[in-house]
Amino acid sequence: MKLAGKTAVVTGAASGMGRAIALRFAKEGAKVLVTDMNLAGAEETVAEITGKGQQAEALQVNVAEAADVEKMIDTAVETFGTVDILVNNAGIMDGFEPVGEITDEKWDKIFAVNTTGVMRAMRKVIPLFQEKGRGVIVNIASTGGFSGAHAGVAYGASKHAVVGITKNTGFMYAKEGIRCNAIAPGAIETNIGASMSNISEFGMGRAGMTHGLSPRNGQADEIAAAALYLASDDASFVNGTVLTVDGGWTAAF
Ligand SMILES: NC(=O)c1ccc[n+]([C@@H]2O[C@H](COP(=O)([O-])OP(=O)(O)OC[C@H]3O[C@@H](n4cnc5c(N)ncnc54)[C@H](O)[C@@H]3O)[C@@H](O)[C@H]2O)c1
Repeated sequence: MKLAGKTAVVTGAASGMGRAIALRFAKEGAKVLVTDMNLAGAEETVAEITGKGQQAEALQVNVAEAADVEKMIDTAVETFGTVDILVNNAGIMDGFEPVGEITDEKWDKIFAVNTTGVMRAMRKVIPLFQEKGRGVIVNIASTGGFSGAHAGVAYGASKHAVVGITKNTGFMYAKEGIRCNAIAPGAIETNIGASMSNISEFGMGRAGMTHGLSPRNGQADEIAAAALYLASDDASFVNGTVLTVDGGWTAAF
């Protein structure tokens, strides 16, 4: 088992990739704090894990709330004794709005969840990792974190920022046993469509032009496999980088 004895915190783990990551990590021996805004969904993930005799606890966390993020790391330490792996996965889509159509309210909401929440969770866990002299962070970015064609301006910018946070952190703490990487998933079959609102026909039409190049939709478990690699010692020399997992979609650009 690749994560035996490790403790992991996963955000947005009630659904989609977060859920798949929590299940995969638990199967590999990790104790997992399954966090999500949707507590009932997080509890379902935990029930599936504990039903197999593996270890997990659920916690309601809105990553856009600073106090929730602080409590998340504190709860993991209180419950499992420490944190070894942080997976910042919770995220929401915009409505494909280009800059001419984005509202301040939507911009702030997307950044609060997709970017500020990631930074705050990392800021909270880093002192713990420094004290231990080791720790791993996996951020779920997006191909929208380097392409201009995969979403609206707010989502794209929020994920470009996650790539920046990842690279800066990987570099800054590289000599302290801490690794920080991101995954850039392509089109994955999850429930993220439910977070879309006020869809811009113009923006969706423009972004849709590149979708035909994606060979197929990926499955959440294919992202969980990449997260396991980055979280495990198999990736001991992989730091400050972005692993694209998109079936070859963006190889075209
Ligand atoms: N699905 C895709 O095609 C795709 C592609 C690239 C990147 N991503 C990214 O992958 C990550 C996971 O998304 P998914 O596709 O599995 O979507 P999903 O909607 O299936 O799951 C996201 C989970 O995050 C939770 N969540 C949303 N806002 C939250 C908040 N403020 N606090 C805590 N939890 C919150 C939701 O309740 C949900 O359980 C996101 O960061 C998303 O941007 C998705």
